[in-house]
Amino acid sequence: MSAFFFLFPFFATALSVDLQPYSHSAMLDGQGKYMLHWRHHGTSVTFLLQVETLGYVGFGFSPNGDMASSDIVIGGVEGGKPYLQDFYSDSNRILHRDPHQNYLLEYAMENGTYTILKFSRDLHTCDPNDKTITESTIRVIWAFHNEDFGQTGPTYHGLNKGRKSLRLLNPEKTYIKPVDAPSFNFTNRNVPIPYKDTTYWCQMFKMPALNKKHHVVKVWM
Ligand SMILES: *[C@@H]1O[C@H](CO)[C@@H](O)[C@H](O)[C@H]1NC(C)=O
Ligand SMILES: *[C@@H]1O[C@H](CO)[C@@H](O)[C@H](O)[C@H]1NC(C)=O
Repeated sequence: MSAFFFLFPFFATALSVDLQPYSHSAMLDGQGKYMLHWRHHGTSVTFLLQVETLGYVGFGFSPNGDMASSDIVIGGVEGGKPYLQDFYSDSNRILHRDPHQNYLLEYAMENGTYTILKFSRDLHTCDPNDKTITESTIRVIWAFHNEDFGQTGPTYHGLNKGRKSLRLLNPEKTYIKPVDAPSFNFTNRNVPIPYKDTTYWCQMFKMPALNKKHHVVKVWM
């Protein structure tokens, strides 16, 4: 009898994910099938992935947006059991299991349509197969598949993959009002435009001095 009363609230809370603790979110695929939520605290970052698949989910950090030479983590739930493994890919995009498993799975669940994975890692792991997470723009790569990982390792993800540039360590307010940001014009003066299809005009401009690191948030043409 008492077991019955314990089970009910457990299932009720397990089905809804608490997004409150995550200061940042991004839709990685443009269709809402792959949502990333994260927060950083001290020297580590916690990620929550919500992906519309019951197969495996892949997430990683790439030097240039391509799958080659990347730091990749793959996880999911198979036969009721959660799994998460740290991989890296070589320059031929072949996946290798990382001998140093630096991603810590905090929980994984499937709710009938979605796979939800929560995991964390250090910003800097000292493992040459892991990418250090810095304040700069980071190229995140993602993939998912409708099958789980199985004994043989992940099968090719097909078309469900992509990349996105993110600043993971951005302050909480990611939207900077352009009006508050410094702006300047690069104006060509008295350039005759010849009457022909296309003219390329190469011109160098000197940037105004900015004494610390800035990021361009908007370009007007
Ligand atoms: C499954 O999880 C997703 C993502 O959190 C959510 O949008 C969806 O409503 C959930 N479905 C059920 C049946 O709880
Ligand atoms: C840039 O050019 C626009 C349009 O001519 C002008 O309104 C604006 O004040 C200029 N901005 C600066 C910083 O010079």
